[in-house]
Amino acid sequence: KNPLRAGYVEAGEDKVCLPIYYKNYEEKIRKFEVRDDDVFLCALPKTGTTWCQEMLWLIANDLNYEAAKEVTYLRCPLLESDILYDFTLINEIMGGELISRLETFKSPRCIKSHLHWSLLPEQIRNGSKKPKIVLLFRNPKDACVSQYHFARATSGYKGTFEEYSELYLGGKVAYGPYWKSVFSFWEQRSKPNVLVITYNEMKENLPKVIKKVARFLEKPLTDEQIQGLEEHLSISSMKNNSAVNLKELYKLVDEKYKLTAAKTEFIRHGKVGGYTSLMTPETSAKFDAWIKENISGTDFNLF
Ligand code: A3P
Repeated sequence: KNPLRAGYVEAGEDKVCLPIYYKNYEEKIRKFEVRDDDVFLCALPKTGTTWCQEMLWLIANDLNYEAAKEVTYLRCPLLESDILYDFTLINEIMGGELISRLETFKSPRCIKSHLHWSLLPEQIRNGSKKPKIVLLFRNPKDACVSQYHFARATSGYKGTFEEYSELYLGGKVAYGPYWKSVFSFWEQRSKPNVLVITYNEMKENLPKVIKKVARFLEKPLTDEQIQGLEEHLSISSMKNNSAVNLKELYKLVDEKYKLTAAKTEFIRHGKVGGYTSLMTPETSAKFDAWIKENISGTDFNLF
């Protein structure tokens, strides 16, 4: 039995492709009680959300490295975690339904979501609550390759990469269509409680991003603290950090569903432009045309 092969639903006007269990949580997510001092991270899957989430959580929580030993999916969880697997696994991993337990989390809560803006809690969308919101973007070629590896490991996807990229371009992978969600986030960028960052930027100059985020969260850091956080967030350190490398979670998923996640690294090479190792020049050209077609006539200028 494969929890992610149970089927997909198309949610909202933009027909967002989500696991079938979404139906059980749609209302709970919509009515979720947001707090003004929450920190939300909104981004599509495989855009570096775990990396960014770790940075946000540590800055928001005064660099409490001791408390950061708690696994990331329970410390700064995905809002819609409950929709990803059937309830028996959610019970085992999360200790029961997560969304209701988020109410008991101490402030400041750090919560991430891959959901299209229109599917987020009402209080965020209508502005009645103003949590800090970070929007993270990554080039779709690298995100697609990363999601392909993830789909093979965690949902037993058996197709080729070329087949997967066709699904990705057609918006038929989890959380697709890519551009619909990207624009739903992009439209929020001028709000005073919103900050945009990119995976590229984090790769190019992490201390600069840390400084920018610390200012945004009103938690200024010294140069020494920034350096310490940069080291903690380096790919080699994160690969060895069991609170963020998801090794235990992958093991549980394998035991339960006979998948092969444990053989895959969740934190892989983490490169900008790493897609060339798997994507043929022809597929890359298809992505270029698709990117051009989708951003032409808009002011989207991140990649
Ligand atoms: P790759 O598969 O391209 O290596 P998410 O957390 O949204 O699922 O994103 C996963 C991607 O972020 C993976 O990309 C992973 O390797 C990358 N990543 C995780 N930690 C990272 C780090 N410390 N530095 C750079 N990339 C990182």
